[in-house]
Amino acid sequence: MMRGIPSKVAVIGAGTMGHGIAEVVAIAGPLVSITDIEQRFLDSAKEKIKWSLSKMAAKSQLKEDPSSILSRIQFELDFEKAVRDSDLVIEAVPEKLDIKRETFRKLDAFAPSRAVLATNTSSLPISEISSSISDPSRVVGLHFFNPPPVMRLIEVIRGQRTSQDVIDFSIEFAGKLGKRPVLVNKDVPGFIVNRILVRMMVTARLAVEYGLAKMEEVDASLKYQAGLPMGAFELADYIGLDVVYFVENALAERGFQVTAQRMLKERVDTGRLGMKSGEGFYKYTKEKQRVDISQELSSRISASLLLSPAINEAVWIMSNDVASRDDIDLSVVLGLGFQKGILRMADEWGLDNVISNLKQLEAKTSQNWFRPESALLKMVSEGRTGVYNGIGFYEYPKQSC
Ligand code: 3HC
Repeated sequence: MMRGIPSKVAVIGAGTMGHGIAEVVAIAGPLVSITDIEQRFLDSAKEKIKWSLSKMAAKSQLKEDPSSILSRIQFELDFEKAVRDSDLVIEAVPEKLDIKRETFRKLDAFAPSRAVLATNTSSLPISEISSSISDPSRVVGLHFFNPPPVMRLIEVIRGQRTSQDVIDFSIEFAGKLGKRPVLVNKDVPGFIVNRILVRMMVTARLAVEYGLAKMEEVDASLKYQAGLPMGAFELADYIGLDVVYFVENALAERGFQVTAQRMLKERVDTGRLGMKSGEGFYKYTKEKQRVDISQELSSRISASLLLSPAINEAVWIMSNDVASRDDIDLSVVLGLGFQKGILRMADEWGLDNVISNLKQLEAKTSQNWFRPESALLKMVSEGRTGVYNGIGFYEYPKQSC
């Protein structure tokens, strides 16, 4: 099995994620070929990569000039040519299982047999995607975050058949890109970050639907009380409401309870897809415009109430051995830009408070997925309630009264 940095990487799909991934890989040194189904997608990807490289160069974040990095990226319409000779292929085509499976069937035919085949799926199990190829042991999840040049996290996902060599290679490769890999040990839909993210987004929509707060108040609370870089609605607009809708549906089809989709669906159905279409939950009059949310709106609803379901999900992830405590906390910091880990925040708010928040939400909305995880209830019954008791998910010096 190959070690270290591969010399040629192919990226399939030149959309939001694909072009960002191609850029990140080229910055690290390998030759990259990026392919898509129409020339205009490749042209648009090239413009976006140029913009991003110039931004990074202006902040002295690059060791080379942007034109040298760009010269390592080949924009190739022909799939077969793009993947030929590659040591690693990263698939970033739309989040539809049949499209992904078809892409992997083509990779099985045209990519060299030595190549590691990675998928940047955000929510679909790796084992479902890899079932269409002859050797699923070389397929792995490499999940980047938007925007890839800025977000430092990569989730490395072990499919049911992924070989340990391929996992080791992927972890080393992520490090070579200057990213921090976290290992997702079980192939659960949504992995770490999107499971947590979907809980946060659904809770935010339910809070609005049940009249607990207005959309701007929810976002202000998450930004100013919890210190998140974006509110839940603002972030959904940034990711793209169609993408969020796909992710949620993929999770829902695999047994993860998702509710309150009306607000999302009616926007997706009418083409209001977020920042990229000029309107989603908010309106945008220029490219890359940020939403202006007033801090004065932040006291209407508590951030701990809004984030308790996400904490409960983090507990599920940890207690089911999908990922470790430290990797969960690192994931939200580097993948979602949180100021601190979600389990650290839970310790600060108190796990007994988290449980009463979950019960309050369940009573208000009759959604049984708000029910506290048994591992969380157990911690509280053992007195591991967080910072004020000296122990929760982490240990703390005892506080004097
Ligand atoms: N390339 C290079 N630089 C970029 C960039 C890119 N693609 N995108 C943004 N930047 C730069 C901006 O130009 C800006 O530079 P400047 O300070 O010189 O003007 C700098 O990054 C900061 O950007 P902004 O001023 O626009 O604002 P912020 O400080 O808020 O940073 C952000 C933007 C990094 C996007 C931050 O708001 C953030 O972390 N938001 C959360 C993003 C997030 O959660 N992403 C994950 C989504 S989930 C996901 O991707 C999974 C998927 O499967 C759904």
